[in-house]
Amino acid sequence: MSLLRRFGYGRKVHAGPGRRNPGSTPSNAVHDESTVLRLASELQRLSPERAEFLLTLLCRGLGEEIADSERYQAAEVLAGAVYPKYRFSEFARIFLEDDAFLTYYERFMDVGNWHSLDRKYTLDQLLKLTLHLEGDLVECGAYKGASAYLMCKAFRNSDCVVHLFDSYEGLSAPGNRDGAYWTKGALQTPEAVLHQSLAEFHNYRSYKGWIPNRFGEVADRRFRFLHVDVDLFQPTLDSLNFFYERVVPGGLILMDDYGFTTCPGAKRAADEFFASKPERIVMLSTGQAFTVKR
Ligand SMILES: C[S@@+](CC[C@H](N)C(=O)[O-])C[C@H]1O[C@@H](n2cnc3c(N)ncnc32)[C@H](O)[C@@H]1O
Repeated sequence: MSLLRRFGYGRKVHAGPGRRNPGSTPSNAVHDESTVLRLASELQRLSPERAEFLLTLLCRGLGEEIADSERYQAAEVLAGAVYPKYRFSEFARIFLEDDAFLTYYERFMDVGNWHSLDRKYTLDQLLKLTLHLEGDLVECGAYKGASAYLMCKAFRNSDCVVHLFDSYEGLSAPGNRDGAYWTKGALQTPEAVLHQSLAEFHNYRSYKGWIPNRFGEVADRRFRFLHVDVDLFQPTLDSLNFFYERVVPGGLILMDDYGFTTCPGAKRAADEFFASKPERIVMLSTGQAFTVKR
């Protein structure tokens, strides 16, 4: 295989010229030549046009001298080879450098789980669009309080209240529109975790119970922001049914799980609900969707 020969395979594997200490064998070097050959040949099969670039870079090593843009390209090729459906977004987006936000996020998520960074960032930004409005905020599906934290923080200096609804017993039973991904009781977490997460705030209330049982307690309130994040058809529909008419004009309705193949019921509920309403649903590449109340 010519590509592999060009990289010296079939001969001994050497540390590349980019290594900081080219004379020594790095402790994580791959010594088993057949493994290297298999890996290289697999890469060439999966990504024929870009395998050479990736192999060149990997042979040089990924020391500090390698530019960020090159690392990004390497990651893109590798991810594209392993999981072609995943498309890397543009290099050098500012939000990935927002240390304060990254610190907030890491506080709530398991180590290495960056799956909702973009959604949390989007939520945080969209909240700004409601700063000038009247009304409270409400979230259906509060879990450990990561998104509630952003809602409380954005309004910590105002007198509006963030109302948080959750069973704290996890998801209700998925129905026949919900697909097979979720199971009853998934994402169960004690309410105490929410209170811990929000310990620095006094501007929230938590309503433990199955949606929509406790919605009546806020029937006389109006809302500038509704966050629906319950993953399933029925509680999504119940949340929209109850809160839509209580959202003030210009207020935002953000649905966290609308654009996920794992949550078909959430999309279906929103599509059915808004079919008879004047608002248009805007789906974002993050998987979220939002609309602005008329
Ligand atoms: C994906 S989590 C919410 C995540 C949270 N918004 C965040 O970003 O940190 C979904 C939550 O919805 C709650 N939930 C799902 N179905 C429910 C129902 N029928 N009634 C009450 N809570 C429900 C679950 O207990 C879970 O905490």
